Amino acid sequence: MTNTPFTIDALELGPMENFVYLIRDHASGRAAVVDPAWDVQQIIALAQQQDVTITDVLLTHSHHDHINGIDDVLKQYDAQLHLLKTEASFWGASPNTPSLHHGGDIIKLGETEIKVLHTPGHTPGSACYQLGDDLITGDTMFVYGCGRCDLSGGDPEVMHDTLRKLGKLPDSTLIHPGHNYADKTTCTMHEQVEGNPFMHFDATEDFVHYRMHEHDKTRNSPYHAVLKK
Ligand SMILES: [Fe+2]
Repeated sequence: MTNTPFTIDALELGPMENFVYLIRDHASGRAAVVDPAWDVQQIIALAQQQDVTITDVLLTHSHHDHINGIDDVLKQYDAQLHLLKTEASFWGASPNTPSLHHGGDIIKLGETEIKVLHTPGHTPGSACYQLGDDLITGDTMFVYGCGRCDLSGGDPEVMHDTLRKLGKLPDSTLIHPGHNYADKTTCTMHEQVEGNPFMHFDATEDFVHYRMHEHDKTRNSPYHAVLKK
């Protein structure tokens, strides 16, 4: 039995194991879809099955595999698009007229409050969305992994700072990542701090070396917990 005003459902869609999330506000029947991509018919079918109306589209970042369903959602629903202002500047091509946010903003979905966190590193304007004890992390943080920092706009030094800040969130925080790259689909922040190797570095230069030069040679998905040396 849940005492939250919302429910988060996950759909795993497309060839890159993307997670698309549907946040349903119980009181209003409104729903927000996070990173609509690949198979929009499945997203819409889930909304219809749950008898909710998609009124908002939230983006964690602007990479193709997280946004390629926006247009199809907006054809079906009169929904408001949300992303960080920094990401819109980086992207340079956002469709429609988005709400441009700053870190710390609150998006109201009926009685559900969604806090926007600015979590740069994978892209300059990457966002995480915090709903009580739930955290939708996009490609900033995976279960026992983190997003790559070698693409345009990526910055491993900034990612280290971002992950350290996320690690200070409550231990009970439940992570909802942007891809299904691990041996389980979610985990707690406590499990991340213990078992995510990217959370184990004190020195930024050591983190940067691991992220940019070592990790991809030594580890493959599905990721498992790695204990701190
Ligand atoms: Fe990405």
